[in-house]
Amino acid sequence: GTDIVTKEMYTFKDLGGNSVTLRPEGTASVCRAYLQNGLSVSPKPVKLYYFASIFRYERPQAGRLREHHQFGFEAIGDGSPALDAEVIEMSWQFFTTLGLKRLKLHLNSIGCRDCRPTYIRALREYYTAHTAELCADCRVRLEKNTLRLLDCKKPGCQALAGAAPKSAEHLCPDCAAHFKALKDYLDALALPYTLNHRLVRGLDYYTRTVFEIQPEEEGSQSTLGGGGRYDDLIEELGGSATPAIGLASGIERLVLNLEREGVTVPPEAAPRVFVATVGDAALEAGIKLTADLRRAAISARMAYGRSLKAQFKQADASGAAFTVVIGDDEVRAGTVQLRDMASGTQTAVAVDAVSALVRGRRAGP
Ligand code: HAM
Repeated sequence: GTDIVTKEMYTFKDLGGNSVTLRPEGTASVCRAYLQNGLSVSPKPVKLYYFASIFRYERPQAGRLREHHQFGFEAIGDGSPALDAEVIEMSWQFFTTLGLKRLKLHLNSIGCRDCRPTYIRALREYYTAHTAELCADCRVRLEKNTLRLLDCKKPGCQALAGAAPKSAEHLCPDCAAHFKALKDYLDALALPYTLNHRLVRGLDYYTRTVFEIQPEEEGSQSTLGGGGRYDDLIEELGGSATPAIGLASGIERLVLNLEREGVTVPPEAAPRVFVATVGDAALEAGIKLTADLRRAAISARMAYGRSLKAQFKQADASGAAFTVVIGDDEVRAGTVQLRDMASGTQTAVAVDAVSALVRGRRAGP
């Protein structure tokens, strides 16, 4: 009954006449992989992450693409609200550590298969009394997927949703205890969540906890990341009853919001060593030294086919702590010139000693 499934599936016939649907989200695929590859015998919770291209046949606009990229993670096999708190804390840390500040954390519980039917009945009763005020889509939703009425974007429907019965007030004792424990943990973590009774998420597999991280100033059109519990999904896909929770975030939306908030991307980490060479024999020695340094887990960069002056300029710009200079004399002697970039001191050292020296010595005075 969700838009993602009924309207936005990217389905076509391939050259062999097979009906192909491009992946519209990652969670179901992760659950399938979990079952197919025997991960259910691993210690719980099984924690997985992914980067994936995702396809939804939506009306393209800023931050809403037909192909976008998601980063997501899932924790499978534990039903404790402590895991919800861990996942939500990790999500919040992820966005705030990137440097985003104007964020809001929306939280809701939509109950389980035991208590949701009672809530849906209350919701249907409420909306049936207001059918005339509903948009055409919502009249269909009233029959087919009542929960979705709450996240209709049309102004008239939004006003109705504001006064609609709240799922968090119709939870069974177990779901209510779960939600209370989660809120207590989030309070203990000082996470600034906002209870949002209209948050139902765009996929139907959710149970209990749902959450979204949104920019402060805009609505769900620009949601940066969202997730929640899906305690029945693995069972529905043929596995045993396995509770799980996760989050996914759209990379393009992240970039858009980083730009909007004026967050600059940190510079690339400087290499430890920059290798400059003069002459063919030195170039070969330089290639070998660069590879040896990398094999010793020391970051190294080398220049190609430029004057020594240009290479020194590059070395300066790279921010390397050391520059190694190799010429014909050095190749013959099995040495290199090792320059400490901060102090400017330069000494001849055996080529075999470079790794140990640059690892051990702190650059600069
Ligand atoms: P979702 O909310 O449908 O959740 O998508 C996750 C994120 O993908 C959104 O918050 C948004 O940042 C980004 N996104 C979605 N559609 C588009 C689009 N058309 N263009 C650009 N970005 C978009 C899920 O897909 C669930 N699998 C999340 C989850 C993981 N639930 C539990 N575990």
